[in-house]
Amino acid sequence: MGARMTALLDVHGLSVTYGGLHAVEDVSLTVGGDAIVGLIGPNGAGKTTMIDALCGFVPHALGAISLAGRRIDHLPAHERARAGLVRTFQSVELFDDITVSENLLVAAHRPQWWSSLVDAVAPRRSSRSLDVDFALEMVGMESVAEMRPPELAHGQRRLVGVARALASHPKLLLLDEPAAGLDPSETAALGAVLRSLAAADIGVLLVDHDMSLVFDVTDELTVLDLGRVIASGPTATVKDDPAVVAAYLGGGT
Ligand SMILES: Nc1ncnc2c1ncn2[C@@H]1O[C@H](COP(=O)(O)OP(=O)(O)OP(=O)(O)O)[C@@H](O)[C@H]1O
Ligand SMILES: [Mg+2]
Repeated sequence: MGARMTALLDVHGLSVTYGGLHAVEDVSLTVGGDAIVGLIGPNGAGKTTMIDALCGFVPHALGAISLAGRRIDHLPAHERARAGLVRTFQSVELFDDITVSENLLVAAHRPQWWSSLVDAVAPRRSSRSLDVDFALEMVGMESVAEMRPPELAHGQRRLVGVARALASHPKLLLLDEPAAGLDPSETAALGAVLRSLAAADIGVLLVDHDMSLVFDVTDELTVLDLGRVIASGPTATVKDDPAVVAAYLGGGT
């Protein structure tokens, strides 16, 4: 998309303070509708806090957040999710005693107009189960739909976590360390999934410590250290930035 078009996500001057600690300080970034943007930084840099603040889980965040040109920073978390801003969590929290499909059904919701359309075209299938099928297909996990989470490998569970977020048809997906604990082939599969999301016009903000994944799939990168942006721009440029290299060599990652 052209850089001058309205960004899907536009964040300006986001700050979060916990007691005296500036967990996130004056951070601005944009994500295009078909882009994968990386948000990286050493442990404690403020990445999860950023995601929490964007989603409305932090009560006293400051700054302007717009989704598709509409301010959302005054909205509660569930309304931001309904507007299309959906996250995954650093630890996957699936319900173990129901199937993968049922886990996704819990998350699936659709605008009314879509449900009516699906009912008219396919009266025997609920729009919610179509959402589940869509989400599992996007991550290549259709074959585990009737299994329960404890029966799955760790990498499969993480992809189901991504699918659960997709079941609510996000405009923008915020992923908090989706590659944690994945082996190289699972990480490669995740990378392919992320590219297919961007190709389907779903924006992605990717937080991860796996630099080969981040450098491979992101178009742009913002680097945080101690809550502040120390570099941002095209991935190819930012990854060689001396401040970024120094933060990683000196960081606890
Ligand atoms: N609820 C909270 N209350 C107080 N301090 C917090 C809270 N959440 C995070 N912090 C602090 O804010 C800072 C940023 O933490 P955050 O979890 O956002 O970092 P991160 O970049 O996600 O790190 P990691 O890579 O380890 O996940 C840290 O110093 C952390 O201790
Ligand atoms: Mg974190």
